[in-house]
Formats: sequence, C-alpha cells, structure tokens
Amino acid sequence: MRATSVLAAALALASQTLAGKIKYLGVAIPGIDFGCDIDGSCPTDTSSVPLLSYKGGDGAGQMKHFAEDDGLNVFRISATWQFVLNNTVDGELDELNWGSYNKVIDACLVTGAYCMIDMHNFARYNGGIIGQGGVSDDIFVKLWVQIAKYYVDNEKIIFGLMNEPHDIDINLWAQTCQKVVTAIRKAGATSQMILLPGTNFASVETYVSTGSAEALAKITNPDGSTDLLYFDVHKYLDINNSGSHVECTTDNVQAFNDFAGWLRQNKRQAIISETGASMDPSCMVDFCAQNKAISANSDVYIGFVGWGAGSFDTTYILTLTPLGEPGNYTDNKLMNECILDQFTLDERYKPTPTSISTAPDSTSTSSATSDNSSPSSTQPIKQTNPSTTANPVTKPSPDTNNASDDKGSAASSGAQALTGTIFLTVAALCYMLVVF
Ligand SMILES: *[C@@H]1O[C@H](CO)[C@@H](O)[C@H](O)[C@H]1NC(C)=O
Ligand SMILES: *[C@@H]1O[C@H](CO)[C@@H](O)[C@H](O)[C@H]1NC(C)=O
Ligand SMILES: *[C@@H]1O[C@H](CO)[C@@H](O)[C@H](O)[C@H]1NC(C)=O
Ligand SMILES: *[C@@H]1O[C@H](CO)[C@@H](O)[C@H](O)[C@H]1NC(C)=O
Repeated sequence: MRATSVLAAALALASQTLAGKIKYLGVAIPGIDFGCDIDGSCPTDTSSVPLLSYKGGDGAGQMKHFAEDDGLNVFRISATWQFVLNNTVDGELDELNWGSYNKVIDACLVTGAYCMIDMHNFARYNGGIIGQGGVSDDIFVKLWVQIAKYYVDNEKIIFGLMNEPHDIDINLWAQTCQKVVTAIRKAGATSQMILLPGTNFASVETYVSTGSAEALAKITNPDGSTDLLYFDVHKYLDINNSGSHVECTTDNVQAFNDFAGWLRQNKRQAIISETGASMDPSCMVDFCAQNKAISANSDVYIGFVGWGAGSFDTTYILTLTPLGEPGNYTDNKLMNECILDQFTLDERYKPTPTSISTAPDSTSTSSATSDNSSPSSTQPIKQTNPSTTANPVTKPSPDTNNASDDKGSAASSGAQALTGTIFLTVAALCYMLVVF
C-alpha cells in the first residue's frame, strides 16, 4: 500500500511537472465584430464597441478583472476591416472608428497584457476572397501596414492577420500572408508576434490534412527566420464546429495531441486564439478535457484565448463574461473549471501594468488620431517608468517574447521535466523493490 501510494504520488508530481506552463492565457473581447457573416460582410451598424462609454459591454472592467484577479495576460480584441476603415476598403484608418477601437486596445494595454488584434473577416471583404477573386493582396497589405505603423514600437500588440479563413486555396492564401508579413516587418514592426491562420476556420483537426500547416510553415520574416510567426488555431466542440450549439459532441483531445506532434516534429508553435463552449454538462466534460490536453502540450501551444466576454452578456451561449459589477467581478463556472483550473501561466509572462497617455474608457473621442501617415506622431502609447506606476512589477526576464529563446526554453524545460520524471519513477521503483 505504501509503495503504491508513493508511486502514485511520484507519478502525479511527474505529470504535473510535465504539464508545463503556458506563456499567454486570456479571453476574447468581441463586440465590434457583431453581425459579421462568414462571407466577410461585416456591417458597421451592428458593431458594439465593448466599452461602457460606447454602450457596449464593460471590456475595460473585464480585462482589469481578468488581469488583476486571475493573472491573465492576453486579450483578443475583435475588429473588422469595414469598421476600422469606415467601409472604405482601401482607405485610411478612420479617425472615429479606429479611435474607439484604440480605446479598447488602451484598456487592454493598461493591464499590462498582450493585446491581440482580431481582423474578423474570414479572409474576405463583402463576399470576395482576398487575392482569390475578391480584393487584391495589395489592398489587404495596405490595411495591415497602416496598423503595423500605428503600433510599430509596441511589442505587446499581436497581429492576428485574419479570423477563420475557409473555402480558400491554401497555397494562394499562404502567399497572401507572406506579403503581409513582409510588409509588416518592413514597416518597422519587428518585435510583434504575428498569427497565421489556416483554412477550414483554422480548425486544429484539419490543419495538416488541408495543407494549412505545410503552406503556412513556409512563411518567413524578411531575414528568412520564422521568429514570432505562430500558427493561429481554432476549434469548437459542437456538431458543426461553429460554437453555436449548446451541446458539446466532439472530443478534441486527439486532434490537439496530433497537431502538437506535427508542431514538435517541425519545430513550430501555435496559439489557440479561439475556442469556447457552453456550460452544458457535456461541455463541462469535453471543454475541460480539451484544455487539459492543450495545457499538457504547452511547449508547442504557447497561448490560449477563450471565447468570449466583451459585449456578450452573461447569458450568451459561450459566455465567459464575469458575473457581478465592476469592482467585484467573479468568474463563471466554465471559466473557473475549464480554463483557470486547467492552465498555469508561466510566471515570467505575468501581466505588467503600465500607464498610458489616454484614459482607457473615457467618453471623449477627440484623442483619436488625425494623421496616420507618420508612426511617430500617431503612436499613442507612452509607457512611464515602471517604478513610478502605482503597481510596480518585476521586470520580465530578458528572453520574454523572443521566439528563438521560446523554443530553447521550452525545449530545455521539457528536458528538465523529463529528467525529473525519470528520476522520480526510478526512485519509486527502487522504493517498491525495497519494500517488497
Ligand atoms: C463613416 O462614413 C460615413 C459616410 O462618409 C460618414 O457619414 C460617417 O460619419 C463616418 N463615420 C465615422 C464613424 O467615421
Ligand atoms: C452551424 O450550425 C448553425 C446552427 O445550425 C448554423 O447557423 C451555421 O451556419 C452552421 N455553421 C457552419 C459553418 O456550418
Ligand atoms: C458589487 O458592486 C455593486 C456596485 O458597486 C453593488 O451594488 C453590489 O452589491 C456588489 N455585490 C457584491 C456581491 O459585493
Ligand atoms: C533572442 O535570443 C537570441 C538567442 O538568445 C539572441 O541572439 C537574440 O539577439 C534575441 N533577440 C531579441 C530580439 O532579443
């Protein structure tokens, strides 16, 4: 009995060590995307900016809660092409709409988290596929260059090039993404992560079989490296992988384990930027199990974002919107059991609050930029000396956000964990031999 319990304890400890820690963990803050169709039509009149001052959800209060109370360090903030350019497909960032989007981004940055831009257009603009019969690659590149210049010096911004491409030629799509990556880097935005989405709604289950993994793996930075280029992976658990049904009918554990194997073999990493479930008993089982599997593969799945809060209320089918009021928000059962309980954040990446020049959720719209041509005049984020902020934080270790180190440290901590496992298992076996 004693030997068995020692062995069990040793194995439990070993699996805990192996489970690893995730670098980026957070929640989606949707709202601006409300009304988008999968054909890339996104009406601007149904957008709901997730800020109370815009009569949307309390995105600012939610992110503050998630960062301060839960230690979450990434928020994915939905935008649409139509919204940020005010329906001018190849125009400039719209002063008012881009201004309001930036208020949400500012509310994210002030928490110290990473802020992921979600261009929620399904690889399309009003029905036409980008570079495949619809708008040209150049027009899509122009959109991203403006955004890249705007955030050129802010490494906390993550460029999610496109939400859920589907029914596209993946090789042509990879060429489109390559043009955007090259243009973003040449615009000077070299410190930011970029997310590359596969087809079939970026489904993890078909990432390899659709050729997405292979095609997107060829995309490089101008220097030939793949540093900070990550696969963008999504998955739901309902009958048609859409996240629109209450019941979960899909066990995604195998799919996440399989793609983790591909990533490891090809020395690449991915971020799950969208997945979610209802609180139906079937989902409390399947969603928790899925996330446990993702967590166990956190050497290759370096980030996880649950969908969603923002302008969704607490009755939305996939809601992660906190309960209560600003100041006393608490998390729902799904958030607690299937996300917070399943992941451990790598301490080195904990959110580091900063002060910024604009109030995160002020009612004024006058601070929106009026000139987007010069990055220096439009860069709104003024980071103060950390020692002067109300909440001083430890400086992140030098390898924070360094892709080459990402791999190195993941590999070496994996090796340490493995050594520990072998040691503990051998110790337990020796103990059993002695006892019996
Ligand atoms: C968007 O463009 C329309 C048509 O030009 C204009 O009337 C409207 O004020 C603009 N809206 C914003 C938010 O810029
Ligand atoms: C999934 O099912 C929902 C509800 O039946 C439907 O509205 C939606 O269009 C489907 N989505 C896809 C991608 O098939
Ligand atoms: C939460 O805060 C609101 C607004 O300040 C207050 O009315 C409510 O009683 C508080 N609820 C709890 C459970 O503390
Ligand atoms: C990333 O780490 C590598 C290896 O440690 C180092 O050579 C490189 O200069 C670092 N890059 C940045 C941007 O810190």
